[in-house]
Amino acid sequence: MKLSKKMQSAQLMERTAGLFKCPICSTGMEMVEQAKLVCENMHSFDLAKSGYVNLAPQAHTTKYDKSLFEARTKVMASGFFKPVLDKLSSLVNDHLDESDESVLLDAGCGEGTHLKAIHSRLSMETVGIGIGIDLAKEGIAAASKAYPGFIWSVADLAAMPFQDDAVDVILNVLSPANYAEFNRLLKQGGIVVKVVPESGYLQELREAFYNGKQQKEETDPVERFSEHFDDVKSERVTYMFTLPDGLLAPLIRMTPLTWGASEERVREVQQEGMKGISIDLRVIVGVSR
Ligand SMILES: C[S@@+](CC[C@H](N)C(=O)[O-])C[C@H]1O[C@@H](n2cnc3c(N)ncnc32)[C@H](O)[C@@H]1O
Ligand SMILES: [Zn+2]
Repeated sequence: MKLSKKMQSAQLMERTAGLFKCPICSTGMEMVEQAKLVCENMHSFDLAKSGYVNLAPQAHTTKYDKSLFEARTKVMASGFFKPVLDKLSSLVNDHLDESDESVLLDAGCGEGTHLKAIHSRLSMETVGIGIGIDLAKEGIAAASKAYPGFIWSVADLAAMPFQDDAVDVILNVLSPANYAEFNRLLKQGGIVVKVVPESGYLQELREAFYNGKQQKEETDPVERFSEHFDDVKSERVTYMFTLPDGLLAPLIRMTPLTWGASEERVREVQQEGMKGISIDLRVIVGVSR
């Protein structure tokens, strides 16, 4: 008989329970009755039917809702990020080459597509435990439905419900970061692989909605990153992605860039159409301190 998603996830969390810590009192956790994670002080966190666990200390509502994550999944399924994901997988693979039960954690994983894509590209020897966390419950719910076999948790990346020195690689793609927390979580010699937007990222959308105007980043992300990690390397990944039919609407929907735009302008831009869209990202890698 095929195991339910919840059961599959409970077994995985039972095997990896030593990684978790209680988000309320920081004591260790164990899987009880294949249904909930319980800490030494009896704080208890039920697994959802699809297998994820909510370990956020309080409920959060975010602007990232179900339709946004559906749009994001559709866009990502088109190969939109393929060159970036190839780059990220090769960096992760190189790092994990000699580990056996390695732990890969995506901090701010959204609907989980990137973690799944990168994990499935790892070589057989390095395939280990994949953990995706995000504060948006809708993202984690979607991830757990689509990709069993991973640990999916609603959690705050600034206070992650995991033990010190537990993780080999932290991915952090277009999401906020907390470098002190990343360093706490990483094993000695572990790495962070971060992706930040560069000036040309989705510039056609910015032109359509804001005449190309863009908020200026106050600090250089590589500089800030370098204050927390050693051996920092960074590389810009730039290409033009040809938009297939039907992809412009979900693309507009998925990005925070267009949240301020009027419905009318969204309709106009969709009617005008768009042939291609610029991808311009920076991949930054550094070693834990
Ligand atoms: C632009 S999305 C990127 C999602 C995904 N990494 C991707 O590239 O498709 C930013 C994500 O960061 C998440 N996020 C923001 N603040 C967070 C926090 N404090 N803890 C965990 N996730 C957070 C949001 O919920 C959202 O899913
Ligand atoms: Zn507790």
